[in-house]
Amino acid sequence: MSDLKDVSKDFVEVVKYEEREFAPPADFVARANMADPAVYHRAAADPEAFWAEQAEHLHWFQKWDQVLDWSDAPHAKWFVNGKLNVAYNCLDRHIEAGKGNKVAFYFEGEPGDQRVITYQELKDQVCQLANALTELNVVKGDRVVIYMPMIPELVVSLLACARIGAPHTVVFGGFSADAVRDRINDSTAEIVITADGGFRRGAPSGLKVNVDEAVKGAPTIEKVLVYKRTGQDVDWVEGRDFWWNDVVDRQSTEHEAEPMDSEDLLYLLYTSGTTGKPKGIVHTTGGYLVGTTYTHRNVFDIKDDDVYWCAADIGWVTGHSYICYAPLANGATSVMYEGTPTYPAPDRWWDIIERYKVSILYCAPTAIRAHMKEGHQHADKHDLSSLRLLGSVGEPINPEAWMWYHRHIGQEHCPIVDTWWQTETGGIMISPVPGLTTTKPGSATFPLPGIEADVVDEQGNSVPLGHAGFLVIKKPWPSMLRTLYNDDQRYIDTYWGKFGNMYFAGDGAARDEDGYYWLLGRVDDVMNVSGHRLSTAEIESALVSHDLVAEAAVVGQPDELTGEAIFAFVTLKNRAHPGDERDFGQELRNHVAKKISPIAKPKRIMFTPDLPKTRSGKIMRRLLRDIASGHALGDTTSLANQDVVNQIQDATTSAAQDE
Ligand code: PRX
Repeated sequence: MSDLKDVSKDFVEVVKYEEREFAPPADFVARANMADPAVYHRAAADPEAFWAEQAEHLHWFQKWDQVLDWSDAPHAKWFVNGKLNVAYNCLDRHIEAGKGNKVAFYFEGEPGDQRVITYQELKDQVCQLANALTELNVVKGDRVVIYMPMIPELVVSLLACARIGAPHTVVFGGFSADAVRDRINDSTAEIVITADGGFRRGAPSGLKVNVDEAVKGAPTIEKVLVYKRTGQDVDWVEGRDFWWNDVVDRQSTEHEAEPMDSEDLLYLLYTSGTTGKPKGIVHTTGGYLVGTTYTHRNVFDIKDDDVYWCAADIGWVTGHSYICYAPLANGATSVMYEGTPTYPAPDRWWDIIERYKVSILYCAPTAIRAHMKEGHQHADKHDLSSLRLLGSVGEPINPEAWMWYHRHIGQEHCPIVDTWWQTETGGIMISPVPGLTTTKPGSATFPLPGIEADVVDEQGNSVPLGHAGFLVIKKPWPSMLRTLYNDDQRYIDTYWGKFGNMYFAGDGAARDEDGYYWLLGRVDDVMNVSGHRLSTAEIESALVSHDLVAEAAVVGQPDELTGEAIFAFVTLKNRAHPGDERDFGQELRNHVAKKISPIAKPKRIMFTPDLPKTRSGKIMRRLLRDIASGHALGDTTSLANQDVVNQIQDATTSAAQDE
């Protein structure tokens, strides 16, 4: 999180030194799914015809009457009156085409357990769960909360919900009981699907225990369906809790997929915004599947014989779109891995790539940087020659990490697709097309065919090449969010309020002299820590919910490994006696972990007698950001309490010297 001035500075720094370019290799171009550059022009000339063409790749029970209805902007309707079922597109149609024995997933658990699941087997399991959910009184339109580890039953759960038309809302397994409770309450779900626990860094971690805690404050929940993954002890509430094995395994493998309207709700996914309350992003059925399958087919150049691995977590949008829905709808074979990248040894990922002959790897820069820190000798031990394409997502990839990925993992022959998108966009928006685009390390290159983006100033005017501004999208696209659940006004204000007729992404960006897009980070109060999206306001409200805390201000600090790190400035209540500062800092970190998630724990906490404020009492975060980033302080004339800034600055400098 930074403002436009900071990001412009960063842009000049990065681009000044970056002159390397990588054209797509000739053998890649020769086989590429998208190889004619005219596609950009064709899509721009008639976007609706272009998107209709993409929609033809799916199976529709009933064809649409109109591609796009934008008459009620900014509320889009795509493929109006079209009827389809997402699970049918992901499973049944491939089986009907004779591909039932094709592998859908090679699953590997963290302890090393392996399962090979074909399309037929996946469909059977999805139908069984769909029948079980029906038996548990879940009907079309009911929301289902899913809180599971990264195991195949998580995919089965998403697809079973889609099959019966019950929108799901997945809560990332690393989130706390409080986060689960808030999402249940906002979506008023009556059922949670969970597991006893999952494996993380060699030990079972509990999930059911968090659901039990969450449900105490979530009166709508009537049923909890529990998959046994770790075998750990769990508490049990008779009549409310059901073992998956008891309810699902005895069901029929036959189930008729429910025809859904193109605009029916497919899922909600909560993500951090600029206030303390997470936003329920609404994705609907037809446009979402068209957008995600189109991007997956062309950005990953997916072929029938590829082994594709998206090493994200289904708790985030990347996993929804590019582990579950798009790869299955495109009939791909994927690897799915449960655990941490470096467990039990730093070469775990490279070992997986060698054993399953992975040809496409898609992951976050933070993982690349973590591997880079471990050293390329771990990758060198393995045969990575099956790889032909690499992807990056979730945060800006610094040119150094890009080059390491290119050299040591891609062995200098794999194109890299740096894909920019958001929970809100549903699918990839700005990215190289690997058979067409000459890449530059650190640039996401160009908007995909069909996507019209721009970089604008405060007034919404396009800025010249070579300058930074706000990233906007100028035309609706099929996989866009439709609104925020139960908060349409916030949808309008957040995304369309700033420029009226353009979608404001919340990111800063610049184009270089060749028109390449360089993403420069958030320009609002959203942080990106290890590719995880977190809101400063949410962490601040977790901090002030502690009895001894009076006020808190949270800012992002540049971090080599995690992109941004969380820096919290905390003022205690009068007469609070926290004891030892270090111990109390730890207590506060644990408090935040309990309220949100361990990933939201501040890396640094500074206790200060006061926070810098304007005369009207507003906290001047910009100054705190400058202090945390070691930048020269901006304008301080409106500051009411100059002394505090000097004190904080001195304390930060001496703390940095101590480290
Ligand atoms: O700031 C951008 C950053 O991640 C934000 C979206 O976060 P989330 O909704 O959690 O989705 C992450 C996975 C799509 C964006 O506003 N971001 C995502 N991809 C990139 C990126 N920043 C730079 N380069 C990217 N490739």
